[in-house]
Amino acid sequence: MSDSSPISVRHLTKIFPGQPQGRRWPALDDLTIDVPRASIFGLLGPNGAGKTTLVKLLLGLARPSGGSGTLLGAPLGAVAARRKVGFLPEGQSFPEYMTARQFVAQGAALSGLGRREARERAVPWIEKVGLSGVLDQPIRTFSKGMKQRLGLAAALAHEPELLFLDEPTDGVDPGGRREIRDLVVGLREKGITVFVNSHLLGEIDQMCDHIAILNLGRLVTEGPTSEVKTKALGGASARDRVRYLVSSVGDDMRPFLAQIPGLIDRVDPTGTSLEVMLPATDNAASELIDFLRAAEIRLRTVQPLEASLEDSFIALIQADNRQRLGGSPQ
Ligand SMILES: Nc1ncnc2c1ncn2[C@@H]1O[C@H](COP(=O)(O)OP(=O)(O)OP(=O)(O)O)[C@@H](O)[C@H]1O
Ligand SMILES: [Mg+2]
Repeated sequence: MSDSSPISVRHLTKIFPGQPQGRRWPALDDLTIDVPRASIFGLLGPNGAGKTTLVKLLLGLARPSGGSGTLLGAPLGAVAARRKVGFLPEGQSFPEYMTARQFVAQGAALSGLGRREARERAVPWIEKVGLSGVLDQPIRTFSKGMKQRLGLAAALAHEPELLFLDEPTDGVDPGGRREIRDLVVGLREKGITVFVNSHLLGEIDQMCDHIAILNLGRLVTEGPTSEVKTKALGGASARDRVRYLVSSVGDDMRPFLAQIPGLIDRVDPTGTSLEVMLPATDNAASELIDFLRAAEIRLRTVQPLEASLEDSFIALIQADNRQRLGGSPQ
């Protein structure tokens, strides 16, 4: 088991006693994974995939049925490691009568800081999440997004080494989402590992350097975000391919399509714009442009396209469902 990984699990399995009717697989099935230190690690998967189950096992809130793991080097469920961990749960409920300062200080004190230190540490974190103007106001006067920011400050005030975030930007406005993303990226720069659970794939794509995808209790794939995205595009060799969008001004490109040097694949030719897949060589783009010029195609753009995480996610889950369920949706 890797000592340097802040989260490391081997063959981790959870079977709940009352499994929902018709489900034949464990809630979490034989998961082996290492989360790199100082990464922002995104855990993705459709509803019921096992994400919350995994977080509960990691935080010692549920006991595994099989397998093992460590959190910051200590066995899962050990109390000592929990002090070095911050957690922003989804849909947290707040003591409405407390002020922002009291709530964050209380969280820090519960994580093992002395009361005075906890009060001192609370203020800069409340400022960092953009709530300095409401430091001493009761939480009942806060909007949903303000509560979410407050939860984040409370999860961070004891300066954890490892932070769990469940839907961190839920209810937060676009400007606030960006601030939270920037804050999380800043944490990584300080060496803090962040484990994010979210359905917002655009956010995950912008924030996470590593992702893991769960489906039906099992790991579908994991790795650096860019690798997972390209893997879904066309098998193991996808990293060696680049997809370009070519747009021309008026000319019909169709007669020239098949002659493009090195062409691996072409998608949706509409006559004046199309997508072509070429080998990922240094000069592929300039060869493509030379060819199109020689064919007297008046170019508007040649633009490399990156698959979105959402495209890749849906393709991977559909393929996994076909393999596991033989085509039936669940
Ligand atoms: N306490 C429980 N008892 C029985 N089954 C449970 C229990 N908790 C979760 N499950 C089942 O385990 C599976 C995984 O649930 P889990 O909550 O981990 O999913 P999730 O990936 O977090 O989904 P969501 O995206 O909807 O939050 C589901 O089939 C769920 O019904
Ligand atoms: Mg969940």
